[in-house]
Amino acid sequence: MRILGVENAENAQGSPSRSGTLPERLSAELDSIRFATILFADIVGSTRLLRALDPEDGRDLLDSSIALIQDAIHEFGGLVVRIQGDGVMAVFGVQPAAEDHALRGALAALRIGEKMKSGALGFLPAPQVRVGIHAGPILLRRQDNDFGSILDVVGHAAHVAGQIEKMAPPGSVAISATIASLIAEPTELRPAGSIESGGSETPEGRGEAVFELLSVDFLGSDRVPVKGNATAPVIGRETELEQLRALVGGLANARQGTLAIIGEAGMGKSRLLLEASRIAAGHGTTFAAVRGNALLEAVPFGCLGGTLRHLIDLLQPFAPDPAVAAQLSANEAACLAGLSANETGWLSHLPPGDRSRIATGTIVRIVELAAAHMRLLLLVDDAQYLDSETLMVLAAITRGGRIAMIVAGRPEGLPRINGLCATQLRLGSLSRSAARTLVSLINRIAPVDDSVIDHVIDRAEGLPLALQEFAVMLQGTPAADADGGDDALSAAPLPARLDALLAARLAALDADATRLCQICAVLGPVFPVSRLQRGGELVCRNPVTAVARLVDARVIEFVGTGQARFTHQLVQEAAYRAMARRRRTAMHGNALVILKEAKARTDLALRAGTGDETASHAELATHAEKAGLHAEALVHLWEACVQALSLAAIDAVRQLHERACAIVARLPAAQAAFERSRFAMLVFDTLQQLSLEQILRTDVLAVADGKVNLGPGLRTVARINMALLDWIDGAPTRGMVWLAQAEADLDKHESLPRRTYADLTAAYLAFSLGNPAEAVNRIDRLGARLADGLRGETFGAVVVIPHVLARAFGAWYLTDLGQTAKARSWVAEAINLSRRYTHAYSRMLADLAHGYLHYRAGRMERALPILRRAHADCLRHDFLGFEPACVSWLALCMIEQGLLTEAAQVLSQSVERGHFRKVRTSATYYLHEARARLAMARNEASEAANLAALALNHARDCEDVVHELHALTLCAEVSAISGQPVARADTPSISTLKARADELGLAVLQKRLERLAI
Ligand SMILES: Nc1ncnc2c1ncn2[C@@H]1O[C@H](COP(=O)(O)OP(=O)(O)O)[C@@H](O)[C@H]1O
Ligand SMILES: [Mg+2]
Repeated sequence: MRILGVENAENAQGSPSRSGTLPERLSAELDSIRFATILFADIVGSTRLLRALDPEDGRDLLDSSIALIQDAIHEFGGLVVRIQGDGVMAVFGVQPAAEDHALRGALAALRIGEKMKSGALGFLPAPQVRVGIHAGPILLRRQDNDFGSILDVVGHAAHVAGQIEKMAPPGSVAISATIASLIAEPTELRPAGSIESGGSETPEGRGEAVFELLSVDFLGSDRVPVKGNATAPVIGRETELEQLRALVGGLANARQGTLAIIGEAGMGKSRLLLEASRIAAGHGTTFAAVRGNALLEAVPFGCLGGTLRHLIDLLQPFAPDPAVAAQLSANEAACLAGLSANETGWLSHLPPGDRSRIATGTIVRIVELAAAHMRLLLLVDDAQYLDSETLMVLAAITRGGRIAMIVAGRPEGLPRINGLCATQLRLGSLSRSAARTLVSLINRIAPVDDSVIDHVIDRAEGLPLALQEFAVMLQGTPAADADGGDDALSAAPLPARLDALLAARLAALDADATRLCQICAVLGPVFPVSRLQRGGELVCRNPVTAVARLVDARVIEFVGTGQARFTHQLVQEAAYRAMARRRRTAMHGNALVILKEAKARTDLALRAGTGDETASHAELATHAEKAGLHAEALVHLWEACVQALSLAAIDAVRQLHERACAIVARLPAAQAAFERSRFAMLVFDTLQQLSLEQILRTDVLAVADGKVNLGPGLRTVARINMALLDWIDGAPTRGMVWLAQAEADLDKHESLPRRTYADLTAAYLAFSLGNPAEAVNRIDRLGARLADGLRGETFGAVVVIPHVLARAFGAWYLTDLGQTAKARSWVAEAINLSRRYTHAYSRMLADLAHGYLHYRAGRMERALPILRRAHADCLRHDFLGFEPACVSWLALCMIEQGLLTEAAQVLSQSVERGHFRKVRTSATYYLHEARARLAMARNEASEAANLAALALNHARDCEDVVHELHALTLCAEVSAISGQPVARADTPSISTLKARADELGLAVLQKRLERLAI
């Protein structure tokens, strides 16, 4: 089969191996990861063949076979990387950068087989060749040896291509599923097994299917090839479809319209042409496609060969000999024969100008002949690749005004397309809702989480190809929880088709522009123009030209207000991914320089306005980290953390701490321990709000027991922190040991803030250990100190306004002790303070104390809205340390109000979140109590008994004397209702319990026990 007559293509592409040394010409490509097609060709049974020949004949056979293979590769713009004995390795898509590299590889592979069979070799029987192709990310490597430098291709994809080659039956071509998916043209395939492609290309190293490639319908004109699948309906293009319908419908009424469709790659141009062809079919209108192609860009009339053949076929019933019917001259007939056979030698005796004129005339006549017999619609795709001769033909056809035409192309083709069409349609991004529909539609069989869809939509920014490919990729990923799914998706390589397209756009840049593009990619999807300029100065020979190139190639654009951005965030992503690690590290180093300069400038000018954004420490840290400068990264992370703390941005603090830990892990052990502890002390309070404090235990312990020396002050704080950690962990006795050490420190070196912190922690411990009076005393004591001047201050590593903390906890204790008046005044104090400092965490604490007070006083209707708000705030801000308390008191209140369903709901959600497992204090006790009370209210006696027993176990487990008494009272209440004893026989009598409650002064329990005693 003859695929294509592109004898000139080779010259036009500039055969890469003919001029300049390769490594020189490819220097820009080195250090770039490229998505390319790799081809392996091997002569089957060459050893056996060679054995039968004398050495010189053997050499000739090898030489000419290899030459033939090389020629076929060069014909389609491939680059021969290596020749080893009887095998050849080539890459497509590197030099020249071509997005259709898979197609090129496939055509070259078929061409090799075809040439071998045709006897072009001159040996009989001709040896058979096996060809294998695969596409994936590769890295070009320069290898120096005694004879100079050679290039090598590194990457798993190359290895896979080699294996696929071995799977090809002798004399045939084997391709991977990736290659098959990259070729939009119709192909004839035969399954040939599968291969473990492993590596990073496929999730979980899934096998990749391998096919034998029989043919590619490269120049077919009877269909419009669309990348990927086109089975789902067109979404969000109502007005565009309306225009197509009007144009095709008008055709039936003899109105010949022309329409241009302009849009970026992957915007859905081909898809709209396909729709047009379907609409036409519905109207009984015939269509013929003309497709521009990078391979044929330099072949005059190259795109029209297939179209001519198709028209001649269509004319068969009306005009069996179209040359006669169209009244062609002898020259024109010869031209028609040549063109439709894709030959280039027709009328070669005539001067070029004459040949071109004759060809134009001939084609126009044939097209018009067809239009005379049928309603004809010409669909022109990828007009940006049309050769100027084909453009001339199309212009002549439109001038004739007898044929309708739709021309689609990318913006760079605009100058060529502009003259052709009366109306122009600009295809933009899909709307968010259309994007959602598209993704949901593709995943309708196995629907995915909304949050995952949102993530896809954000990332695709309305580009249909990206939406489609991401959506298809989702189908392959196993159902993970939303977060895991997101991460998996952004970490995974871009889908092959998308990658190929984006990579090609970037690969077309010259070395200078590539470097600029890389520094931009490191700066992010959007960046201030000043940074772009500084980046240009740092990495480019000619920054101004490089910027212009990036804008011309629509890689970046300016958006006013001093900002520039990538035209699509996926372009940035692709540019970032395309950098080899070494290059990336260097570029982050450059970015760090740029940002530090910017920061120094703004710090100097104190924001006195150049419009330049101040570089944040978090950004600086990122670049330092990625530039491999760990110590510098930690300095910036520390500053960023301090800033986040001062803004009470707790989530940012958590993330910064995680990043610091990740960097610290790369330091030597001793230094790592020091840094970890420093950061642990800094973020302790924040992580406590998030209920994550226990992850800091080892790092705080190192400071508390003196293994890491951060000075005596911080050692005392660390000891109090340890006491607190133990209290939260349900081990108050152990906590008392730490507290004693801290207080001994304080006796030696008095410190107001640390003393305050110690008193507060002592209060928590005392209450748990059954000493409520001591707890209140401690708070009284520290309150006196807070009153003079320290009210709004923070102490030690504690960010929460300590006064609010003290008053809130104090109010709970007082409420339990029945000292309502004092409790009320402390609650009021807490509320006022938290309002004054508009501090979300403090306000939640004040609300909790307030709600609890009302709840215990039996004023449920007042307690309920307050506790609802506390609950909502706690969840909204992730203040999960108080989650069990918020939920429990709210639920208890709801149960009192008879809102059982709602109570059940908040309780089961809390159980599902599981925070009660981390906070082993009274807060958790109340979760058990609330669940037990709910069961009681629902008359589920045995469930209530189980839960009451659970509450008791919890309190005992946590050495919580006060709540053990609560739990025992609860058990007594449950068994009073059910008539069955709860838990084990060691339940004391009501009178014993009452005596104990009296002793502790727990008024809340006294009343309930009195009721039980009756
Ligand atoms: N409006 C749309 N609705 C659904 N799928 C679309 C839409 N537009 C494009 N697609 C899909 O996106 C992919 C890319 O579209 P394509 O027409 O090949 O882009 P272009 O020709 O502009 O590069 C194809 O798989 C196509 O089916
Ligand atoms: Mg297209």
